[in-house]
Amino acid sequence: MDSIIVKGGTPLKGKIRIAGAKNAALTLMPATLLSEEPLTLTNTPRLSDIKTMTLLLQSLGAEVSALHDGKVQVLSSHGLNSTTADYEIVRKMRASNLVLGPLLAREGHAVVSLPGGCAIGARPMDLHVTALEALGAEIELKDGYLHAVARGGLKGGTIDFRFASVGATENALMAATLAKGTTVINNAAREPEIVDLADCLRKMGAQIEGDGTTRIEVQGVDRLGGATHQVVTDRIELGTYMLAPVIAGGEVECIGGRLSLVESFVEKLHQAGVEVTETAEGLKVARNGDRPRAVDVTTEPFPGFPTDLQAQMMAMLCTAEGTSVLEEKIFENRFMHAPELVRMGASIEVHGGHATVHGVDRLKGAPVMATDLRASVSLILAGLAAEGETRVNRVYHLDRGYEHVEEKLGAVGAQIERVAGE
Ligand code: UD1
Repeated sequence: MDSIIVKGGTPLKGKIRIAGAKNAALTLMPATLLSEEPLTLTNTPRLSDIKTMTLLLQSLGAEVSALHDGKVQVLSSHGLNSTTADYEIVRKMRASNLVLGPLLAREGHAVVSLPGGCAIGARPMDLHVTALEALGAEIELKDGYLHAVARGGLKGGTIDFRFASVGATENALMAATLAKGTTVINNAAREPEIVDLADCLRKMGAQIEGDGTTRIEVQGVDRLGGATHQVVTDRIELGTYMLAPVIAGGEVECIGGRLSLVESFVEKLHQAGVEVTETAEGLKVARNGDRPRAVDVTTEPFPGFPTDLQAQMMAMLCTAEGTSVLEEKIFENRFMHAPELVRMGASIEVHGGHATVHGVDRLKGAPVMATDLRASVSLILAGLAAEGETRVNRVYHLDRGYEHVEEKLGAVGAQIERVAGE
């Protein structure tokens, strides 16, 4: 497996273009299953997770072509020939479960393996199941697969989520577009990727109101058509690269960035004494002197601080002035980067869902192991300011979520290279 080597100590300067959101693309792609007409997605990120979703959709009989070096995906599901999402593909990526709602809505039945993905917690499927059951589906678990049937088709219903799950809201929303009658989703997730999905579904002919709030209402329609849709900016990649100059020093402009995507995150940067300015093209972050100050962070569903930026924020707080407490409320096992950061000289104590970070003057380069997607990039960020060389091993997860990370950081002056593994 490849490794990334970072030599710390160089301040950054320049622009980084932020890609389309992985998590939006991974829910927009399965939306093709709802229609016989083509769906064209522009601004799709070039990531291995997108390839995995492509393979999954193709295994169901959809046609998927990547154009313009992967930045455009043309999807067509006029001739589906399977309704089974196989374990061999699903185990690689939890977002594979997003074919369940659309398949059930279009074909009336689906068999979907329980997913895999990052090892950051239990991540069950109960919310997806109860949501689809509220729309009249019968679902049972047999041999590691969810077997779902909607006799006579899905019917509108009321879904009351006990927790605002992103994936379950997306599955419910897609399923409801073709269900007969009205569906109300209460305690819906409000992430920008859900609004992006709803925008695309509306272009396809769906009738949806309330996305971006906790109550979404959908009037089912008989059929959906084709559409062309631009994938929203990746707010997690945006936040990640906004932290790079805070950690390494210097100034980086993130092209395509918008404040509305990262408000709670920017609030924490302000508290830490970091300057963020809106420019004509995006967001600019600068640090030319003092260390950032310690801040306390609690992860929450949108619009709260995103769990997907917690590891990167921790990397920054390792060299902040003072003591910070990070509370992880979304996933129960998401501090695996902490012991790796400690190998680099960080002072961190983890107690259950809390991590206490005592800021140190400087980190030191070390060989470290990437354990999950966001942990991988947090170690690269930490390496940008560490003395000497940091070797991040096992970067397989990184390529799932960050396109060309070494080129993007290299272009703003970071000393970073990829070394091919055996
Ligand atoms: C999505 C994102 C992921 C992000 C997460 C939270 C994609 C492809 N992935 O993941 O990057 O970290 O949102 O912002 O968009 N849960 C249940 N039962 C369920 C479903 C979820 O208990 O049926 C729990 C999970 O175990 C977890 C929490 O809910 O503790 C959040 O999960 P959810 O919002 O569903 O995240 P994902 O959609 O998997």
